Amino acid sequence: MPGTVIVGAQWGDEGKGKVVDLLAERADMVVRFQGGNNAGHTIVRGHEKWKFHLIPSGILYPGKTCAIGNGVVIDPRVLTDEIDGLRARGVDVSGLKVSANAHLIMPYHLMLDDAGEARLGKLQIGTTKRGIGPCYADKAARLGIRVQDMLDEKILKKKIAAALEPKRQTLRPFMKDPRLDLQAMTDEYLTFGHRLEQFIADTATLAHRALDDDRFVVFEGAQATMLDIDHGTYPFVTSSNPVAGAACVGAGVGPRDIQEVWGVAKAYCTRVGAGPFPTELDDALGEEIRERGGEYGTTTGRPRRTGWMDLVALRYAARINSMSGLVITKLDVYSGFDSIKVATRYRGAEEATFETFPYHQSVLHHATGEYEELPGWQEDITEARSESDLPQNARDYLRYIADFIGVPIVLVGVGPAREQVVWAEGAVEALPALIPAV
Ligand code: GDP
Ligand code: IMO
Ligand code: MG
Repeated sequence: MPGTVIVGAQWGDEGKGKVVDLLAERADMVVRFQGGNNAGHTIVRGHEKWKFHLIPSGILYPGKTCAIGNGVVIDPRVLTDEIDGLRARGVDVSGLKVSANAHLIMPYHLMLDDAGEARLGKLQIGTTKRGIGPCYADKAARLGIRVQDMLDEKILKKKIAAALEPKRQTLRPFMKDPRLDLQAMTDEYLTFGHRLEQFIADTATLAHRALDDDRFVVFEGAQATMLDIDHGTYPFVTSSNPVAGAACVGAGVGPRDIQEVWGVAKAYCTRVGAGPFPTELDDALGEEIRERGGEYGTTTGRPRRTGWMDLVALRYAARINSMSGLVITKLDVYSGFDSIKVATRYRGAEEATFETFPYHQSVLHHATGEYEELPGWQEDITEARSESDLPQNARDYLRYIADFIGVPIVLVGVGPAREQVVWAEGAVEALPALIPAV
């Protein structure tokens, strides 16, 4: 059975973790395919809160195969901490598999991320400073250190030395930092290697077996379409491809191994870090959405920028990902608004208007949303469990979005807890194998 991909359809933090957690109950395997611990995926189960940065959200189901694919960049310190943290809370992590081909974030990647941002000054991207960009840069430069390298001291030391050589100039201010000592770094990563050895696997082959045996595989994306290094708001993006197409590359499967692509979007928009955000509400209303939605980063705790739903960007995301279903989360945050705006096109400099997402950076930087105003609703919807429980205006809002982007809504979030969802009626009929009991 071909797999299902979950991707972010906006600028991240849409609630992908929760959606993966819901699907993981029925899945036989969950595979993360890109990004690193720049991601923060929150799951709320009863009174318990879980935050995942590297390990797929499906790990909470005992023994479930949860793979970190070759496309992910792994900071082994973060991964081992995450494993320890889960174990300490009684979670069985025996299903975790880590691709031997995934690249490692090294101490110098963290330093280079810091130094790069400092150098950019006012133009900085606002990265999570987790070393993501420098690690992917080394991968492309063929100077990367991979998970498998941690298992061989000679290879590891040689590769670290080769990777450090061209960075000496940039790393000069850090040269006295004990973390950069070649032998100490080699020893530290060998230790990580010993600790992680039991999890290291050929994750692509595991995915092939699951798919060939007609099992249900979920590919978990991190970040989001508008942060994609090719299709997002470059250079204010992350250094990987969070779009659905990257699930193939980052997990080692082919396009025909994917059937469903679900894009996850909030009922409004948020963005962490710098870069264009055409529907941003830099005012009291934006602040109100931030407070109501608890919009503070899972990874860095930074306040998220907030704005109205951007249907120009969402329609673009639908096409780039060939989205088959749309998940709208946090609809509950909108309860109590008299009216809600949605951007249906952009206005640029000199009164130009744009129906489609502009490819040119300077155009995008000047773009602001042009809006339709839709009626809001006052009712608390956190107890809604079926479409008929939602107020008519909330249903009309969802219909407006689905019609505009041409993708059916499959699932709606009405609160952070896993049971706080409304499955769209059509989705249940169309995808019985995918719909977990909630
Ligand atoms: P991810 O990175 O896409 O997995 O999203 P994050 O976990 O970073 O951010 C989403 C936040 O919204 C988390 O705190 C979730 O617990 C929360 N959340 C998810 N879905 C809903 C929803 O439908 N309503 C509300 N109120 N919160 C939600
Ligand atoms: P999840 O998976 C929101 C943003 C950073 C910054 C830019 C580049 O939780 O949705 P990086 O550290 O990747 O080089 O930073 O990307 N960013 C995210 N924003 N959610 C994320 O992940 C993000 N991962 C990176 O804020 O603007
Ligand atoms: Mg997040």
